[in-house]
Amino acid sequence: MNSNNRVALITGSTSGIGLAIAKKLASDGFIIAFHSKKSINTGAELTKNYINSSYTQADLNNEKEARSLIKAVIKKHGRLDVLVNNAGSSKTIAHSRLKEATPEIWREQYELNVISPWVLISEAEEVLKKSSSIECPSVILNISTHASIRPKGASIPYAASKAALNHMTKLLAKTLAPNIRVNAIAPGLVDTPLSKNWDAARTLWNENSPMRREAQPEEVAQIASSFIDNNYLTGEILIIDGGLNLT
Ligand SMILES: NC(=O)c1ccc[n+]([C@@H]2O[C@H](COP(=O)([O-])OP(=O)(O)OC[C@H]3O[C@@H](n4cnc5c(N)ncnc54)[C@H](OP(=O)(O)O)[C@@H]3O)[C@@H](O)[C@H]2O)c1
Repeated sequence: MNSNNRVALITGSTSGIGLAIAKKLASDGFIIAFHSKKSINTGAELTKNYINSSYTQADLNNEKEARSLIKAVIKKHGRLDVLVNNAGSSKTIAHSRLKEATPEIWREQYELNVISPWVLISEAEEVLKKSSSIECPSVILNISTHASIRPKGASIPYAASKAALNHMTKLLAKTLAPNIRVNAIAPGLVDTPLSKNWDAARTLWNENSPMRREAQPEEVAQIASSFIDNNYLTGEILIIDGGLNLT
């Protein structure tokens, strides 16, 4: 695919799934706007390896920094064609331990998984529409989780906030069409730094999932690339979990 100098911002692209998506989109011909919360050195190193790319640091738990991220990307690149809302973090809290899922954790997860994607999308709407055409609409892709659909996940606040992200995906797909397509990918367990201590999940995937293993980030990135490449698909949430949802 030749993306003709189109620019893709992938939030949380110094690690895991976001990094794999950034690498795949770079190989598809996109100019990459890297971003992360604190891994500034990794971001700076990445820009050396990807032509015309940029890196911006912003804590997406902070509304002001979220707004300034889009402004910084527009200032650096002059356009935006694809926004991937991927940044995320999550601490494991057993679902039965209600008091451990404090209102503070609920607010943190809601801010990162719902409000910050909303702020980024609303800040980017105008510039995404500007670079859109009937043949090639601009794209928003949200990275959700299988736990947004099934009663699973690292914690209830994490799963429930991602469920809100799914509904926002569908509402915005209807609202922003035909200029901007909006979809989501809902991975099961993926081998990344975030999931390195999720031993119970790893056992579940190895023993119970039809594919008998977790996903590699590149396998999620391949789907992301196809979703971005297809100029018709909108309002979809795809589970990629090696078939665990069938069990
Ligand atoms: N791994 C899985 O099994 C799995 C499964 C389903 C869904 N997901 C989802 O996939 C996405 C990526 O996860 P991952 O596993 O690839 O995680 P990861 O390897 O830990 O990478 C997370 C990225 O997000 C950034 N980030 C974290 N908190 C941030 C904040 N407050 N503001 C800005 N950036 C922030 C990190 O930046 P720094 O490194 O600088 O902090 C990093 O670049 C998340 O939305 C996660 O919920 C993951």
